[in-house]
Amino acid sequence: MTDTTPLSSPSDDGTERVERVEHRWATVAVAILVLFVALATFAALHLAAMPQSRVETADPITLHLDGEFIDSNLGSALEPDGSVTVRFIGQEYSFTPSCMLVPSDTRITFRATSADVVHGFLITGTNINLMLVPGYISSLNARFETPGERLMPCHEFCGVGHEGMWGRVKVVDRAAFARMAADRRRLSCVE
Ligand code: CUA
Repeated sequence: MTDTTPLSSPSDDGTERVERVEHRWATVAVAILVLFVALATFAALHLAAMPQSRVETADPITLHLDGEFIDSNLGSALEPDGSVTVRFIGQEYSFTPSCMLVPSDTRITFRATSADVVHGFLITGTNINLMLVPGYISSLNARFETPGERLMPCHEFCGVGHEGMWGRVKVVDRAAFARMAADRRRLSCVE
């Protein structure tokens, strides 16, 4: 014998189930929205409360007249602690100096800025990759294990001459670099 008395009609039961599922999904969707708004709020407050510890600026107008990026200070400098600082400028459409000389197996600090528009600084075969932004100093530490020559193309579109904006990085033996640095204040491999 079968029970034929329905508790509710089949269509009512289906509607109820669909409503339950929809309600559950709506709750999940709202929860995701609330989470994203909370994350964005946290990120904004965190950034406002903790600005970058150090932003260095350099006025592109007076770059060549005075300060760290004056012509005579560009190139590689051997520091008292044995590390090397390389200072250079990117401008339409070249790098100054266009060939950088650095020693192998040494801590190198690149410091650079742009004299006009945004340029890119990248050394092939390494993960060295910076943007040169007018008004700001970009800085990066690096180390080259072995001597050799690497290319340095600008990788940020900077105008009609962008394609031709290339530089070179020449990595020489540590001892050879020290000998060259003995009688020159700033080094480069521009011929
Ligand atoms: Cu400089 Cu592209």
